[in-house]
This record gives sequence, C-alpha cells and structure tokens, in this order.
Amino acid sequence: MKAKFNTALWLILLFLNQVLFAQSQSKTVDQRVDSVMQLMTLDEKIGQLNQYSDDWTATGPVTVDNDKTRQVRNGQVGSMLNCKGTDRTRWWQEAAMKSRLKIPLLFGQDVVHGYKTTFPIPLAESCSWDLDAMTLSSRVAATEASAGGIHWTFAPMVDIARDPRWGRVMEGAGEDPYLGSMIAAARVKGFQGNKLGDVNSVMACAKHFAAYGAAIGGRDYNTVDMSNQLLWEVYLPPFKAAVDAGVATFMNSFNVLNGIPATGNSYLQRDILKGKWDFEGFVVSDWNSIGEMITHGFAKNEEEAAFNAITAGSDMDMESRCYKKSLSQLVAGGKVPLALIDDAVRRILQKKFELGLFDDPFKYCNTEREQKELNNPEHAKIARDVAVRSIVLLKNQDNLLPLSKSIKTIAFIGPLVKAVKQNKGYWDVEVPGVDSNFIVSQWEGLQNKVGSKTKLLYAKGCEIEGSDKSGFDEAVQMAKQSDVVILSIGERRDMSGEAHSRSNLNIPGVQEDLLKELLATGKPVVVLINAGRPLVFNYTADNAPAILYTWWLGSEAGNAIADILFGDYNPSAKLTISFPLSVGQIPVYYNHLNTGRPVTSNMGNTSSYIDSPVNPKYEFGYGLSYTNFEYSNLQLSKKKMSIDGKIVVSLTVSNTGKYAGEEIIQLYLRDLVGSISRPVKDLKDFAKIALKAGESKIVRFTIDKEKLSFYNQKLQWVAEPGEFELMIGASSSDIRLNSVFELVN
Ligand code: BGC
Repeated sequence: MKAKFNTALWLILLFLNQVLFAQSQSKTVDQRVDSVMQLMTLDEKIGQLNQYSDDWTATGPVTVDNDKTRQVRNGQVGSMLNCKGTDRTRWWQEAAMKSRLKIPLLFGQDVVHGYKTTFPIPLAESCSWDLDAMTLSSRVAATEASAGGIHWTFAPMVDIARDPRWGRVMEGAGEDPYLGSMIAAARVKGFQGNKLGDVNSVMACAKHFAAYGAAIGGRDYNTVDMSNQLLWEVYLPPFKAAVDAGVATFMNSFNVLNGIPATGNSYLQRDILKGKWDFEGFVVSDWNSIGEMITHGFAKNEEEAAFNAITAGSDMDMESRCYKKSLSQLVAGGKVPLALIDDAVRRILQKKFELGLFDDPFKYCNTEREQKELNNPEHAKIARDVAVRSIVLLKNQDNLLPLSKSIKTIAFIGPLVKAVKQNKGYWDVEVPGVDSNFIVSQWEGLQNKVGSKTKLLYAKGCEIEGSDKSGFDEAVQMAKQSDVVILSIGERRDMSGEAHSRSNLNIPGVQEDLLKELLATGKPVVVLINAGRPLVFNYTADNAPAILYTWWLGSEAGNAIADILFGDYNPSAKLTISFPLSVGQIPVYYNHLNTGRPVTSNMGNTSSYIDSPVNPKYEFGYGLSYTNFEYSNLQLSKKKMSIDGKIVVSLTVSNTGKYAGEEIIQLYLRDLVGSISRPVKDLKDFAKIALKAGESKIVRFTIDKEKLSFYNQKLQWVAEPGEFELMIGASSSDIRLNSVFELVN
C-alpha cells in the first residue's frame, strides 16, 4: 500500500516537474509550446480550440450551458469572451488553474472603439485620415481593456463596405482599399503596441475574413458573390496589411463567398492566409459560424461542420461547440489528421506564451492598475482630440460657422441634444462598475463652452422616430427667441451595427419636418447629423445653411461638437464613404469602372438613370474647412518612368482663408489602358498637412511600381506599361490638378 502511495507521489512530482519545465522561461516560445503539447491529451488539445461566452453578456445567440466552469477546470476550454473586469477574469482564470496542465485562458472582447473611454465609431474616426490619431485611440483602448483583464480584442474590422444599408458599415474604414489598408495597420499597431506581452497590449483580430462587407442588398450575413479580381483588389488588401503589421489573430466571417462559407473556405484560410501570406497567428470562427454551415446547406451535421472548419483552417470555435462535440471522433476515425489539431493548438498556445500568461496567468488582473487606467484623465483628452478630427463639415453657407462666442442666445433643439448613451454608438463596452455619467452630452458640451453671457434654450422638438409633432411649437418658440439655432438629429445609435441593416436611409421620423419649421422662422440653423452610416437627407442638404456630420463621437461627443461649432478646432475630416443621393443608387462608390457608355459621354444611351443623377450627394474624400485651400504648381520629376524607377510629384498647397486649418490632399491614379479595365480613379496616396492662415507648403508624393500595379487576369500583381493619369484632389471629384505620365518598358 505504502509502495503504491510512494509511486503515485513520485509520478505526481515527476509530472509537476515536467509541467514546470515545459513552461519554464529559459526556452524559446516554440520549445515551450512543444513541451506543453507533449503533455496534452487529445481532449485537452481540443479544449484549447474551444471558446465560450461568459453568461453575463452575450454578443450572439446564447447557448444554455451550466457546465462551463467544470469544463474550464477540466482543461476543455481555451478561451472565453464577454467576461471583463479583473474580478471576473480572475475568477475564471482561477478555475483554469485548477485544470491538470494549468493552461491559462485567453479573454477576448469586442473592444471596437474604446473600452471605458469611448472613441468615435471606427467609420467616423476613419474620416480623420489621421493614422497617428487612430493608432493612439487603439492604444488607449488596449491600455484600458488590458487593465480590465482583457487579452484580445476582436478588432479592427477591416471589411471594405460600399453599401450603407449594411449596419456594420459603422465598424470599418469605408470604401477604399488603400486607405482601409493604412487604417488597418494603424489600428493593429495601436492595439498591439510595441509587442504582445507588454502589459498594456492586447492581441488584435482582423475581421471578418473575408468579403463580409459585400453582403447582397446590404443585409447582414447575406451571401457574397464576387470575381477574384474584386476580391483581391478591393476586399483583401486591408487583411494583408493587417498581416504585414503583425496582427496576432484573424476572425473568419458568417457569409458564403462564391458558394463556400468563409468558415469552411480553404482557399481563404489555408491557401491565402496561412499559405501565400504566411500568417502565423490563429483564426477564430465568428459566433457559431461553424454550426451555421449546417444552415448554409454546406454541412449535413455538426460533425461535418467541424470537419469542414478545421480542414479549412479555422483554429478556434467561437460558441458553436462543434469542435468539442466532434473533433475527437473525427481524429479517432482517421478523418482529421492529428497534425491539423496540433497545428491549431500550437498557434493558440504560442499566443498565450507571447502574452506572458504561462509565466503569470493573472498578469492582466491587477485591480489597482484597472482603477488607475479607467480613471486616467489623459484618455478623455485624447478622445476629444480624435472626436474633433472625425466631424465632417458638409455645408457652410455664407460662413455661418464658426459661431461667435459672443452670441447672446442659442436654441439647442432636437432629440439628441440631451441624450447621453446615444453618443457612444454601437459596439460600446459595458464596463463593470462604470455608469454612463462620464459621457459628455451635447448639451453639457455646449454649456461647458459658452460663457455666462450666452443664454442657452432647449427644446426636444420630437423623438428620433414616430410621427408626433406636438413638441414642434415649443421648439419654434425657442428658435424665435434665439440668435442661432442648433438642431441635433439623426438615427438611434442602435439603428446601425451588427444585424441592424436598413432599407430606408432617411433621417427617421419627423426630424426633417422639424427642421422645415425651424427654417421658416428665418433664424440661421446649424444641423448636426448623428448616425452610424451615411444617411439620405436631401431636404436638409439643400435647405439648411450649415451641416456637420457628427456620427457617434463617444465619451467626449459634447465637448468635441462645441469645439467645432465655435472654431476651437477647424474641421478637417473628409468622407471615407460615398453618401448616396438615394437608396436606389446603392452601391455608389468612387472607384468604379468607366463602362462603354459613361454618363459623361454625349451618347444618347448612357449608363445612367432616367430619374436620378448617378453621382452621390457627397463623394468619397469630401469635407469642408472654415478656411480655403488652393492647389498649384504641380510638377512631376519626369514624365516617363521605367519599371524600377520613381516619379516625384510635388505641388504647392496654400491656405488662402482666415483660419489655420488642416487639409487632406488626395492623389488618385488612372491606368488609361490595361489588360483588364481599370477604375476611373484609385486613391494611391494622401497627405494631411496643417497650414496657418496665409501659409503655403510644398507637398511631395512618390510614384513607384507598387502604386501602378493591379491583379491581372491570372491574379498576378503587375504594373503594365502605358499611360497613367495623375489627379490631385481635395476630394475624389474635386480634382484640382492633373497630368499624364507613362510607364515604359
Ligand atoms: C460578430 C463579431 C464579434 C463576435 C463576438 C459576432 O456576432 O460578427 O464581429 O466579434 O460576435 O462578439
């Protein structure tokens, strides 16, 4: 008996020794991963591929499962999402530490535009074209989230979107692949910081791989069908940019792409991502997207869904439980080689080691740091700065804006004036123990800005939705007593976002009718439009003298709007997505092909509508300033370029107005004749510069082979000899300077 006991004790000690040795820091990460894997049973390996949502909040359909804690203790869960706050994450991690191998859990969360401090929605922020600002906001989000126990954000969403009906347009960087790629890299850099393992870095996740933003009809989760050229040229580049920036993880998508669900798509995940691009991180499925392959009619049951997903390269199963239920039979039956499971496990463990979780599973559970970072006043300042950079000035007739600080009476009217949480937009994070008091409403922002000599009047006027006009009279009375009216209208924050697509993009309810009545008072009216997507608002656009598109600006919304209204910041943002004139125009985007019968030709039958112009109401790259910029003196260092050569383009930009300001100068190219038809223009570079009133600066760009290349019929990335048109614009239609050059053999 005693001998038996001694042997058991000896075996336990040997095993613990092996665990410690496997996790010891003196080896490379690869060696440490290998030595942990040697100790793992198949069940434990499959456990690493399994991700559950905590029960407290859910971002998808909840699966009832009262057994999660036991499974975590048994080493059958690799990651959790939707548990946040150091108390909660510590609690789960302690459960994981009771498992045989004590492999730590990864905590993932949708930290899309901030954790406690909320930044503008990503689409708004993209309109700043300010990569440093976007890196910084992601950095702050990572700092707060990691202090709250989170290791991994499911962001950035890098899906290109040309359809504002799609609710998730709010979550991306708009319609352009070049700008989208730069922004993808900037955000990855911000979330991941200098390196994973720094306590204020989180893993980023490029999602949703791939082409999720091209859902037919703008309906979320809908089918995608596109040519390989379009996929490679428009939809894949931001993902590639994220890989190049070192993104730790990818998430695949819900949609079918050319008949194959992305989650079960080997071409996307194995051939492109892990093959051609050599991505070394891991891929998580989207919420139950493995199980949904059954609904897609692509798998007959959960076992086949698991088979399809693991074979195609999906490493971690978010919430479908198909891996948990079926992978061990699939391996035992020889259908799935163990090597596939090992590869997925290795990728996940690698990241756990890089994050430092094997050295200290509670590294991100420091309550003191959590308190400090969630109350860091610097974060609000950064949020305000990013927010002012995201507001787009769409119209400013007779220089109504900026408003003078000595105005006597302002009427601030509309359903969004006193709203608080609305300003956060969709995909905000409910941080445990934090209420919404810190969000600056638009009303508060204005109060903070004006002095005691300015009187502020308020009336709600109407609700966001519905037909009730009973508040109009009060609003009109307020307007009549004022020197200027500011009207804040728009969507509700949850009218965009996941599963929030719209077929009608009008400003809802009677809000534009309210504007009509306010304009009838003869008072100057400044309209603020709050939304998560481009809306259609032709009455407002044509009749209001001044319009600011404020999107959803986050915690500092009120202060940022007031900064812009009074000229403490001169608007500099430009649209990163076209604003349609009508829903019937959608998809409308600037980098389209010319067609054989362009609208601009004088042929009788052109590619037009008989009842509408084809141009959007506001085009990609559009946005005004309180000052004026003039572009002159375009010079090209040469007019013929060899394939390995370069052309330096220079021009002068002058601020000819009264205010200091920033301008986004856009460089577009058109390949005039190609082996496949090329777009009428493609953004290939931009510069954002600050100019004082009266100041001029020279701006330089370099054209090289890369900027002239595209995917040919064989999907080779080539630059073809021939002529190119170079266009320098203040927007995609406001081309100020142009020239032609030639690429020669
Ligand atoms: C969304 C993902 C998100 C996930 C987890 C899904 O429904 O499509 O973008 O990361 O839920 O919340």
